[in-house]
Amino acid sequence: MHSSPSQPLAGRIALVTGASTGIGRVTARQLALQGAHVYLACRSEARTRPVIDEIQHLTGRAAAEWLELDLADTRSIRACAARFLSTGQPLHLLINNAGLAGARGLTRDGFEMAFGVNHLGHFLLTDLLLERLKASAPARIVTVASRAHRRAPAVIDWNAVQKPTRSLTGVREYAVSKLANVLFSAELARRLGSSGISTYALHPGVVDTEVWRAVPRPLRPLLKLRGLLTPEEGALTTLHCAVYAPASESGLYYAQSAVTTPADRARDFRLAAELWRRSEEWVADIGRHG
Ligand SMILES: NC(=O)c1ccc[n+]([C@@H]2O[C@H](COP(=O)([O-])OP(=O)(O)OC[C@H]3O[C@@H](n4cnc5c(N)ncnc54)[C@H](OP(=O)(O)O)[C@@H]3O)[C@@H](O)[C@H]2O)c1
Repeated sequence: MHSSPSQPLAGRIALVTGASTGIGRVTARQLALQGAHVYLACRSEARTRPVIDEIQHLTGRAAAEWLELDLADTRSIRACAARFLSTGQPLHLLINNAGLAGARGLTRDGFEMAFGVNHLGHFLLTDLLLERLKASAPARIVTVASRAHRRAPAVIDWNAVQKPTRSLTGVREYAVSKLANVLFSAELARRLGSSGISTYALHPGVVDTEVWRAVPRPLRPLLKLRGLLTPEEGALTTLHCAVYAPASESGLYYAQSAVTTPADRARDFRLAAELWRRSEEWVADIGRHG
């Protein structure tokens, strides 16, 4: 593996979820430009193809490929992981980026849509890829959370995450899913110890992407979105965590490419352990009955 200052990721393999648009698209492109080979784990090949073509054009090499992944369906997650593992490739960077806000309903496996896709889907995907990441160490797992985690209710309602979205804008459910992202990343770091894998959660900024597309237009002013960053700016903290953040900062939360203190609840070890235990039980249960 020969890396250079302009190609620090030469010879590295990355997998980015939700790379068809927005922050994930820029993340995948920049990782490829820094030398990585990038798997774009996305639900639509038609929406991902232009990103693959763009990366090929910019890098002058076949630096990206599509992996089918629908995080609202654990069968798809298992198939995606199996397909990646069957390539026999190492995995140095897992970027848990995909996310939705304001989409209502249940995942195929019966979880509230935001919680199921943003948290539980990534929980399972990470678990399925963990042994390969360990075998490829040093490796990193970057989870795109949000400062919206601060808006989560004081207590996670474990029954509500297994029922259809209730709030009008979906913001409450989104906030819970993003709190789960921060707790997950911290608990993962504790569990990984000195395995050579470091984990980071982050807030990308408030970014002009399609993330709020499911919120009906008349309700969007309620979201109070101002001073939006470009997707290029929005990908900077992810890229910092993927390439430059020190391994000693594993488990921490970043914003504007710097370690930041998340909400108190996001630092609650017992809550993180409980979320982990419940998530393990849920995915095992789906495995048995799904
Ligand atoms: N934009 C912001 O202001 C902001 C702020 C804080 C945090 N974030 C977080 O940043 C991350 C990226 O969001 P973005 O702003 O770039 O939004 P975006 O433009 O809507 O992109 C979201 C990506 O997630 C994918 N996705 C959605 N549901 C999926 C599913 N069931 N299975 C697989 N992929 C799925 C989308 O795929 P399709 O193309 O198939 O729809 C798309 O590629 C999210 O985790 C979001 O919560 C964003």
